[in-house]
Parts: sequence; structure tokens; C-alpha cells
Amino acid sequence: MHTTVRFILAGRIEEISHCDPTLTVLDYLRESKALRGTKEGCAEGDCGACTVVVGELRGDGIRYQAVNACIQFLATLDGKLLLTVEDLCEPHGELHEIQRAMVAQHGSQCGFCTPGFIMSLLAMFLDDPDNAKTRSDIESGLAGNLCRCTGYAPIVRAAEQVLTAHRQDRFIAERKQRLEQLQAIQTVESLQIVCGERHFYAPRSMATLCTLLEQHPNAVMIAGATDVGLWVTKQLRELESVIYLGAVEELGAIDSADDWLSIGAAVSYTDAKEAITVLYPGFMPLIERIGATQVRNAGTIGGNIANGSPIGDMPPGLIVAGARLTLRSAHGQRTIDLEDYFIGYGKQDLRAGECVEQILLPLPSAQQIFATYKISKRFEQDISSVCAAFSLQVNDGLIMAARVCFGGMAETPKRATTCEQVLSGNTWCQETIECAMAAIVEDFTPITDVRASADYRMRVAQNLLQRFYLENTSNTFPVRLGSRFVPVIADV
Ligand SMILES: Cc1cc2nc3c(=O)[nH]c(=O)nc-3n(C[C@H](O)[C@H](O)[C@H](O)COP(=O)(O)OP(=O)(O)OC[C@H]3O[C@@H](n4cnc5c(N)ncnc54)[C@H](O)[C@@H]3O)c2cc1C
Ligand code: FES
Ligand code: FES
Repeated sequence: MHTTVRFILAGRIEEISHCDPTLTVLDYLRESKALRGTKEGCAEGDCGACTVVVGELRGDGIRYQAVNACIQFLATLDGKLLLTVEDLCEPHGELHEIQRAMVAQHGSQCGFCTPGFIMSLLAMFLDDPDNAKTRSDIESGLAGNLCRCTGYAPIVRAAEQVLTAHRQDRFIAERKQRLEQLQAIQTVESLQIVCGERHFYAPRSMATLCTLLEQHPNAVMIAGATDVGLWVTKQLRELESVIYLGAVEELGAIDSADDWLSIGAAVSYTDAKEAITVLYPGFMPLIERIGATQVRNAGTIGGNIANGSPIGDMPPGLIVAGARLTLRSAHGQRTIDLEDYFIGYGKQDLRAGECVEQILLPLPSAQQIFATYKISKRFEQDISSVCAAFSLQVNDGLIMAARVCFGGMAETPKRATTCEQVLSGNTWCQETIECAMAAIVEDFTPITDVRASADYRMRVAQNLLQRFYLENTSNTFPVRLGSRFVPVIADV
């Protein structure tokens, strides 16, 4: 075990031997380093005022990503590079090109959100600098940053001004030097930080992880900490010990074997998106709407499942696709159907000392029609009121098999088995769909809460099935292109 967190800040290697296991990057920057350009707005990953850029080795290059410093724990930076808004100051005090564009386009008024926007723009600037970013890239890259003053148009104009092809700046020019610095702080050893009775562990292999889980049954596992971060910043919980899964090599892997895609439990949404949506394009509109870029860069599918939430967005789609989970402990591995993992509200089939290891996604069949839907009050950065997923095998106009699952309708993500029975074996037509919509009432008794009333939830669940049918049969129904809807003019 090594016992020092090492990362690069302001071009120098920082070494930290003792720190609170849940010290956030934001508190460290503002309180220990007096780097107060990074702001605290919400302290829960929603506003983007705290956005920083984290760089890490990927292949023979550096991959830079925007993350929320308010819910990222400092020790997770081990072996990485941290860029803050202070890094943009050029040697003679000139502004970076991004900052100049924001000034030129009047992209800042009160200025509180501005460092966060600048850092989201910097992450886009450094990503694939030879190619221009599209309007849609810009909207997606800025969706996790809120501004109360500008109305966004000037900020988007500033983004368009700088995110052209063949971008060049100091960070890109110094890539080799930064790469060498990053390589110098890599280690194969697991990390252990001690703070009194409390510990932070970052194991590097499954074997070490399983040993730690056995030795520390009360430790909290974290992957992206986009849930757990809020336990600390909002619920003010003091976690005894933390085991970080992000350095476990096996948990970061995506593989295809036989008829399955396996996704390590610590793979982020950003990294899993392509592999999943190549197989299941119907996942795209959902994954694009989970949190926003900063949350998707840190948050994992494993965490979304493991937290057992009835309104996690991934489980309904994975359940209808027939996904399975592998769970591992020091005593071995077992595999279960994902839907069996959710036993009841706050109760999952996860034993002491066990972790979620992999999500196994079967390859789709030729006649499979698959779609996911998310209904929430805001388009981005919002929790679903209802989440729906449908997977049907339709052959010659007959529904051979049907799987339907909803989130937000029960105390766990749950299949609509009566609805499925009505669909299966029947004709793929409007009449069958109406019968199946009516059957959903037999499957669920939703609740009323701050997000939606019970009546609304039921109506929406039924109507989403109607929409699924129309989208897959009608050439006049608005079709989904990525995340937005566009009307289709019928052929005449
Ligand atoms: C601003 C914001 C927006 C969000 N938007 C959405 C959204 O649109 N849709 C949505 O579904 N969620 C959303 N979330 C919630 C969260 O981002 C997701 O649930 C995410 O997938 C959690 O993954 P994580 O890696 O960050 O989990 P963590 O916070 O690291 O962990 C979550 C829980 O899972 C446990 N855990 C993690 N990995 C494992 C494992 N391998 N084995 C066993 N236990 C494990 C942890 O101990 C913890 O209990 C949002 C969160 C924020 C802050
Ligand atoms: S302070 Fe709002 S996202 Fe971090
Ligand atoms: S400029 Fe005031 S919040 Fe954005």
C-alpha cells in the first residue's frame, strides 16, 4: 500500500499523507490552497459553479474531463492532474482564449457562475482539438452549468467562437511535459490514507478490494460519489471509512464475450455510453439525460444500480434488455438477474462484504424493438418522475415476447407483468396497445410525492406505451433524434 495521495496541481506534484477521507476537492482548493476561483453554489452537483477539469492517462495520451469539485473526494485524484480556473492565467497575466471570448461576447454578468462555465469550456477545448465542436456538443457540455444572469446565448456564442477546429493553447502545447509528470506519479500499489480512526482505501485489484471489504464491513464503497458526495455535503454524515472503486482495474473494463457485453461496475456513463448505445440505440435518449456532463463523467452504472433507488434511470432499460449482475466477495462470485437485485425499498440482494462487479448486457436480437423514456420536470439535471423501458420481439406483426419495466411507479424498478401478458402473443396493433395500457393499472399503485402525483404517474406510464407504439409504427409521429424531438413531415 502507498500512503500518499499524489496529483498534479498548478504544474507541480502535490503530496498529501493525511486528509479526511471525505474532504472534497472544492474544500481543499478553497480552504487549504486559497484557490477561491472555484465557487460553491449548491454543493450537490447541480449548478456547475465548482467545475474543475481532471486529466488522467488514457492510452498514450491525457483525457481531460469536467467534474464537480463539490462532490468529488480529494483522495480520488491520486495519479491524476487537476486544472482549476487559476491555471488559465497566462504567465504575464493575459486571459486565456476562452476567457477573452466570454468577455467579447458578454458571457459574464455577476460572474459567480463564470469560472465553472470556463472550466466546462476548457474540458471541451482540450478534447479532440483538431475537430470543431457542434452546437449540440456545446449545449450538452454546458448543460451542467447554471447561470442566473446571461440567458446563456452569449455563453454559447463564446463557446462557438473558441471551439473551432485546430485549437491550440498552452495546455495542448505542453501535453508531452504533462504526460511525463502524470507517468511519474503512477503506481501499481493500492492507496491507504489514515485520518485518526477513519481511512480512505483505493485498491487496485479485485483481490485487494475483496480483502478490504471483508476486513471493513462498515466501510462505504464509492465509485463516482455522485450519490455519496451528497451524504457528506448535504446530510453532513461522517463516513467511517471509504473504499474507492475507481482504481480497481477489473471494475473499469468493458468487454464483449459470447453473447454478452460486460461493463465493470466502476465504468462511468461517459465511458459506457458508446458500447451500450451501439447495441441498444434506444438507450441514447436516456443516457444523454442522466445528470449532465460533469455527473456522467464521474457517475457509474454500477452506482446507479447498487444504490437501489426506485428512480435510478438505468435499471428499467437494463431489466427489459435482460441484464444480469455479477456480485463478488472474498468468498467467490455469483450471478443474478438484475431485476432480482431489487428486493424492496432500500433492500437489495447484496451480502456483507460483497460488491457489484459487472453488469452483463445480452446482445439484442434482430426483431427486438427497444426504447427507454425519461419524464422529469427539467430536461437535464433532474430525477425522473417516471422512467419507462420497453423491449418487444415482433415477428410478422405478432408480438412474440414483451418486457416492460418502469421506474418511479413502485418501491423498486419493477416489471409490468400484467401488461406484458396482454402484449405477448398478440397482434402488434393499436387495439393491443390500448388493452396493455389499461393493464398497467393492475401492475402498479404509484405514490404522490414532490415530483408527481399518483394519477399523473399512471397516466404518463400508459401514454409512454402509446408513444412507443406510435414511434415504431407511424411515419407522422415526431421521431427522436438523439435527445430532442423533431417533427417528421409525412411522405405525400
Ligand atoms: C446533479 C446530479 C444529477 C443526477 N442525475 C441523475 C439522473 O438523471 N438519473 C439518475 O438515475 N441518477 C442521477 N443522479 C444520481 C447519481 O448520479 C447516479 O445514481 C449515479 O449513477 C451514481 O453512481 P456513482 O458511481 O456516483 O455512485 P456512488 O455515489 O459512488 O455510490 C452510490 C451507492 O452505490 C454504492 N456502490 C457504488 N458502487 C458499488 C459497487 N460496485 N458495489 C456495491 N455498492 C456500490 C455506494 O456504496 C453507494 O451506496 C444524479 C446525481 C447528481 C448529483
Ligand atoms: S457547487 Fe453546485 S455543482 Fe458544485
Ligand atoms: S453571470 Fe451571474 S450567474 Fe451567471
